[in-house]
Amino acid sequence: MTVLKGRRIVLGVSGGIAAYKAAELVRLLVKAGADVHVVLSEGGARFVTAVTFQALSGNTVWTDLWDARMPNNMAHIDLGRDADAILVAPATADFIARVAQGRADDLLSTLALARDVPLIVAPAMNRQMWESPPTQRNVALVRGDGVTVFGPAAGDQACGEVGMGRMLEPEELLERLEGFFVPKLLAGRKVVMTAGPTFEAIDPVRGITNISSGKMGYALARACAQAGGEVVLVSGPVSLPVPAGVRCVPVASALQMRSAVLEALPGAQVFIGVAAVADYRPLTTAEHKLKKTSDTLTVALTPNPDILA
Ligand SMILES: Cc1cc2nc3c(=O)[nH]c(=O)nc-3n(C[C@H](O)[C@H](O)[C@H](O)COP(=O)(O)O)c2cc1C
Repeated sequence: MTVLKGRRIVLGVSGGIAAYKAAELVRLLVKAGADVHVVLSEGGARFVTAVTFQALSGNTVWTDLWDARMPNNMAHIDLGRDADAILVAPATADFIARVAQGRADDLLSTLALARDVPLIVAPAMNRQMWESPPTQRNVALVRGDGVTVFGPAAGDQACGEVGMGRMLEPEELLERLEGFFVPKLLAGRKVVMTAGPTFEAIDPVRGITNISSGKMGYALARACAQAGGEVVLVSGPVSLPVPAGVRCVPVASALQMRSAVLEALPGAQVFIGVAAVADYRPLTTAEHKLKKTSDTLTVALTPNPDILA
């Protein structure tokens, strides 16, 4: 369980194609122990039905400002009242524009206006919409009003464009939301870390390595970033996603790891060495793939420098 355990999260889903990813986000939030209440805009409800969100969240789903199911008929006030945060993912260009203008013409925008809890938006739109001057103006306005903006990211888009505007993936949104609630004990601190194994090349296709997964280092890097630290993670070869907000410097050998650490260290207050660094490396690395020539092959090793020293 995480910092989200027992938190009441209102998840707004507006009418973008990324609405389908909100279903997975609800699943992840519920798994993390959050109490999730979904509010769909009319557009959002065209992409994914309330049934999906109700089944995943275990709670009633709200769409209509005039919905009489709330005893006092004021879903737009009551839903936000006990919430720890309102997260709108995806947040359309139109929704952000409505928040920027303080409009209250549907349940989701009214909820965003009538609140004293934090509002977080995860923009999702095509590149031109994101880069357009009105959207950029509106995003700056809502930031100025204290709204937190998660993303967007760059990449392939549903419309066939490539560029900025993609909603962050559900796993990353979860990580960012967790980070939102973590006390910022490392704010203003730079943390340099190492993680994973090293790979000491024998020839271009073979090497000596170890079975370090990097999981411990990556988890620590995530925790430090969520605590507000500026984290540089010097990582050996692993297949783990880089935690949100962490700058990863990928390396292979112990020598590369050492020089990347030395380069990152200036200005750092904290160094955490979690990597499983090879004590030895081959004395020489063959330029070409070694051919099988005899029954035994001797590889001479030489000590690696100690990164911690
Ligand atoms: C197929 C389709 C996909 C759309 N995708 C997006 C999108 O990804 N991002 C966005 O900002 N608007 C998108 N729109 C436009 C919004 O649905 C439209 O602006 C709507 O008014 C948003 O209302 P809402 O914010 O209340 O949901 C899309 C529209 C259609 C028809």
